[in-house]
Amino acid sequence: MGIYVITGGTTGIGAEVRRKLLDQGHEVFNIDYKGGDYIADLSTEEGRKGAIKAVFLKYPDGVDSVICNAGVGPTAPPKMIFALNYFASIAIADGLRPLLKKKGGSCVVTSSNSITNMTVKMDWVDMLSNVGDEKPIMEFAEQIPREKTPSCYSSSKHALARWVRRVSSSWAADGMRINAVAPGNTTTPMTKGMTEKQMDAALLIPIPTRYGRKEFLDAVEIANGIVFLASPEASGINGVILFIDGGIDALLRSERF
Ligand SMILES: NC(=O)c1ccc[n+]([C@@H]2O[C@H](COP(=O)([O-])OP(=O)(O)OC[C@H]3O[C@@H](n4cnc5c(N)ncnc54)[C@H](O)[C@@H]3O)[C@@H](O)[C@H]2O)c1
Repeated sequence: MGIYVITGGTTGIGAEVRRKLLDQGHEVFNIDYKGGDYIADLSTEEGRKGAIKAVFLKYPDGVDSVICNAGVGPTAPPKMIFALNYFASIAIADGLRPLLKKKGGSCVVTSSNSITNMTVKMDWVDMLSNVGDEKPIMEFAEQIPREKTPSCYSSSKHALARWVRRVSSSWAADGMRINAVAPGNTTTPMTKGMTEKQMDAALLIPIPTRYGRKEFLDAVEIANGIVFLASPEASGINGVILFIDGGIDALLRSERF
């Protein structure tokens, strides 16, 4: 049985991933700012360093998989969105890479299907993924008005998906894999707090697999994809962005793949 490290495994999608892995008999180490096996605020450098150190101490012989799932939604402050959704995910994946290499393991990050929508600001994606220096980007984020947080969110997740694509061949050269899932709107604590107006806007284009019903995906549907990509069953899959959105991406961008 494998050793799986997950971030954001306490609620929502991450909790379903944990439940499935535990059911399959794996060992799971959850890094979260609440209810984790290791408590860390991953939006901070200190939290990330502490978490990486804790995993090295607990699993010196390596880990089979790292799932970078912790994230905040489009209503969070810009600094938090960039710090947690982008910088924390790549810091944890990179930081634990030596432990994954020992076991020829795999990494899965949680992106979003919003990476293809109109709110994405490519200059912010370039800033995150090409400049990559967190401190000045945090200073820049302080100036971003609150109404632009949907763009912060989709741009942070786009930069994360781009990063996965860029590094995947070097991970493969080291005998490892790295992939992303891009979920559509899913019922979790992140979306439960939405107002009726926000919910209506999110359901403007109904999810095809909901057959006209006005409802979001279930967290377990996303978890199924994450667990598959993380597992040895996905041994031929690397650098892929797996849309788990009930067919929204296919509906809106049928010609692009
Ligand atoms: N729910 C959706 O519709 C949806 C859609 C696309 C992508 N996602 C992504 O899925 C991932 C999981 O989100 P979810 O919907 O399950 O929501 P959630 O709020 O239930 O899960 C987020 C998890 O991250 C943890 N977390 C939050 N801030 C943290 C911090 N600073 N440090 C450490 N841990 C922290 C939370 O405690 C929780 O366990 C996120 O990356 C999110 O962006 C969600």
